[in-house]
Amino acid sequence: MRAVVLVGGFGTRLRPLTSSIPKPMLPVGHLPIIERLVMNLARGGVTEVTLALGFKPEPFIEAFPDGQCAGVTLRYAVEPEPLDTAGAIRFAADVAGIDDTFVVANGDVLTDLDVSALVQFHRDHDAEATIHLIGVPDPSAFGVVALDADGRVERFVEKPAPGTAPSNLINAGTYVLEPSVLDRIPLGQKVSIERATFPAVVADGRLFGVATDDYWLDTGRPELYLQANLDVVAGRRPHDHCDAVHADASVAADARLDTSVVGAGAQVGAGAVLERSVLLPGAVVAAGAVVADSVVMGRVGEGAELRNSVLGADGVVADGEHVHGERRPDPDAT
Ligand code: GDD
Ligand code: MG
Repeated sequence: MRAVVLVGGFGTRLRPLTSSIPKPMLPVGHLPIIERLVMNLARGGVTEVTLALGFKPEPFIEAFPDGQCAGVTLRYAVEPEPLDTAGAIRFAADVAGIDDTFVVANGDVLTDLDVSALVQFHRDHDAEATIHLIGVPDPSAFGVVALDADGRVERFVEKPAPGTAPSNLINAGTYVLEPSVLDRIPLGQKVSIERATFPAVVADGRLFGVATDDYWLDTGRPELYLQANLDVVAGRRPHDHCDAVHADASVAADARLDTSVVGAGAQVGAGAVLERSVLLPGAVVAAGAVVADSVVMGRVGEGAELRNSVLGADGVVADGEHVHGERRPDPDAT
């Protein structure tokens, strides 16, 4: 089975982390998000993945130089300009020569969904498109469906105004599509699968959905990206585990680590404290500093305190400084 994975977004909500690394290449439990995502597709029977890229493919090619990721063959489709979700799927499917039932995944979603079961449901219902659904308390930030008793989607609404969602079942970002879906997408144009293509398939009664209660998380916001890391280190995912401290990190013997991830090459000084935080490769937490509920790429100085914050590659907290609820460097500064 072949798959297209959408990785062309700008990762705006994860800035300043994504100022230096594209969102799908950010590590979750020491492995890039895209690798953990592809691992799950491979478990579900996917053997070839085409990455639908909106810009520079170099970081991906460097990370997977032999064109293999989690035992799956990788191809790259680089759009001349961002084509939005459906436009990107059409473009990538053309590059890969897809002409049979295929899988699509949003590149920022981590899930333990059994993809082979989704494919089986799709075939059993003679669907043109089948989407994975998850129930959430507040669906307004997602695509939301109304489903009938057979699993047929009666309505698909992308990001409904608060209070107007037809249900609590959201589009979880993994699809099984027939190639006929591609014929619905005009070539070389910006088209949204959520706003244009899915509603058209609904009108023909051929969009289905399967709700599961699998582990599922969209890593696209800092607190959720942090959560994705903590879930892996805390063993909350059946197939995915990681050590809290990477073998190439340097952590002082008297530093205290509580439910945190320390990436390759990161340094933690004497007496420093980490709580529910992630240090990305190259991060430095100097002696006596306290870091809580934060993601760090840059440097936290001696005796400093960083809470509920995101520190990008160029982010620095001075010795002794206390920082609460900040993004540094400020991505909105001009
Ligand atoms: N190649 C390419 N080109 N990829 C794109 C483009 C583009 O122009 N625009 C977005 N993407 C990719 C993003 O990189 C991401 O992996 C995926 O498409 C979805 O975009 P997001 O920006 O993350 O969308 P979202 O999280 O607001 O909403 C989507 O995901 C939700 C589930 O997490 C929608 O599919 C919702 O319906 C869904 O509920
Ligand atoms: Mg997203």
